[in-house]
Order: sequence, then C-alpha cells, then structure tokens
Amino acid sequence: MPQPQPDAVAADRLTIHNLLRRDLSASFKEDVRAGLTARPKKLFPKYFYDELGSQLFEAICLLPEYYLTRAENEILARYADEIVSAVEGQNVTLLEMGSGSASKTRRIIEALIRRQNDLLYTPIDISASALETSSRVLLQSYPELRIEAYASDYVAGLNALKTQDRPCRTLALFLGSNIGNFDAAEAVEFLRAVRGVLRAGDALLLGADLKKNPQALEEAYDDALGVTAAFNLNQLARINRELDADFNPRAFRHHASYNEETGRVEVYIISLRNQMVRVPALELELRFDEGERIHTENSYKYDLEGLTNLAEETGFERARTWMDARKQFSSNLFLATGER
Ligand code: AVJ
Repeated sequence: MPQPQPDAVAADRLTIHNLLRRDLSASFKEDVRAGLTARPKKLFPKYFYDELGSQLFEAICLLPEYYLTRAENEILARYADEIVSAVEGQNVTLLEMGSGSASKTRRIIEALIRRQNDLLYTPIDISASALETSSRVLLQSYPELRIEAYASDYVAGLNALKTQDRPCRTLALFLGSNIGNFDAAEAVEFLRAVRGVLRAGDALLLGADLKKNPQALEEAYDDALGVTAAFNLNQLARINRELDADFNPRAFRHHASYNEETGRVEVYIISLRNQMVRVPALELELRFDEGERIHTENSYKYDLEGLTNLAEETGFERARTWMDARKQFSSNLFLATGER
C-alpha cells in the first residue's frame, strides 16, 4: 500500500488562520512611526519575531546564560503529568499564546495524550513561519493531534477564539515568561482577556521568571556571544528590510540592565554617534544623538506574592506552583474561579 504523504496527512489535521496579512504590515508601520517619533524613542517587542528574529530567539534559548528555557523545560519534563492532572475533566483541549517553536509544549501534549485519545491544540503566535513549522513537526510526531492555529497577535487571536465554542475543559498555556513583556496594567488586561475565553474550572499554566541577583539577570539578556544583541538590533534591520530605512546596525549597540525598583530587565538600543536615519516608507528623517537610547523591551521578574495577586486580580487563583531545582523559574497553575 502506498504510504500517505506526511503533508497530506497533516493537512487535514491542520488549519492555520492568518489574521496577520490583514493587520500586521499596517500596524508595524504605524507603531514604528509612533515609537521612533516618541521621546524617549521606543520600539515594540512583538516586532522582534520576523523570520530571522524568531530564529535568533531560538538561538537565545540555547545560550548558557539564558537559563529560562532550560529551567522551564526541566519543570515541564518533570511535572507535566502532575500539571495536567491538576486540571479536572475527562477531555482537555489545549490553547497556547506565543507558542513559537512549541518545543516545551511537547511535554504537556504528551502528558495529555497519555490520558485521552485525541487532542485539539490551538496555538496563537505572531510568527506565521514559526507557527507553520512547529505545527507540521507536531503533527508528524503525534497522530492523535489536531491543530487549529492562529497567526496573530494575542488580542486578535483571543478575540477570534471568543466566537468559537470549546465544549471541553481548556488548559491554556502562556509559557517562557512571555508575561514578562507586559507592565502591571498590561499583564492584568491580558490575563483578563485570557480569562474571558475560559470558563470556571479551566486553567492557565503561566511561566514566570523569578526575581534573582542582578548579575545573573543581566548576563541572561547580554550574552557573551552577542546573540541577544543581534536579536535586539534585528529590529533595526527589519525596519530596513520592510520600510526601506537606512539604519546602520553597526552604529548602534545593545544594552540590558536590571532595574531592582521596578523588577524588570530593560533592554535598549543605544546610538554610538550623532546620526540621521531615513525611513522612506514613513517619509521620516530621524535624528539620533550619541548615547541616545531606543527602549525595545522590558522583561519583568516575579515573586510568588506578585503571582498570587496577579491571579486574584484577573479571575484566577494560583492553585499550584512548580519550580526547577535551582528555583530560577516558576510554572504556575492559575485556576479560573467563578468570578471574572
Ligand atoms: C520571549 C519575552 C520571554 O523576556 O526573556 C530574550 C525575550 N529578549 N532575550 C524574555 C528576550 C531578550 C524573552 N521573552
């Protein structure tokens, strides 16, 4: 008997909704305009993840200094069965915001298909290329899996989900300390939006990086090989590629520092000299002073008390928390409570 083509098999188990074509290029332009004409200048972390940026992020996850991915993987490898058992219900459907390569998700998927015959997985990711690659790889590995993917930002993706009705229990995943990019108000808004697509008794597994000594944090965001620097400066290269700008990435440098008062790592691009940059697609000419900063990212660090409060403010309770052996990272099971 002829073997079915892997792609053909995958195709009928895979739907990718692309909400990006509609929104992303227009919003990228307007966000770059708004950010680079603001004072101080800034750019938005969601635009790190074009195809090159997504690959650079995968490389970051392999760096010795970037302990986050390894620590979370350690937790999921060790406790995935316990985690999924903490979600009540016969049949669970899996939702993930910011799935990226979905390599850590495999632990949860495997734990779920040990308990149920099939599984619907709904990833939302800003990178269509990462989503497509990861979906195909997952479908090859797990014949029990069906994937309904959204290439989208979180807001649009969650909105699209609201109109769908998911009959069974939902376990939502927000891994990797993606929550770290949000300030307090944004984190609350985001978690309320997640709560809005869940029902009482559903759960969210939230990966949050923990507060620790500043040196370890700063090295994690400024590695010796310069991969994080490349990831950061790629935003300028992306503006060159997509908006025809003439940034010289060599005339800028990467900087990361931990702010203990705010509990966040702040990431900047710093201009090495006085310079002008043209962005023809925006009809903009920008001036940069020597030493001037573009704020590109915050990465907030949590403690358990902060996580408890965050859950309570957003219609969840922090039911369980698992940590790696070195207590660097936390995986938190937020159970959706009755009140929203
Ligand atoms: C993808 C937001 C979790 O904040 O640790 C890694 C992004 N930036 N190195 C993080 C990032 C620089 C990362 N998150």
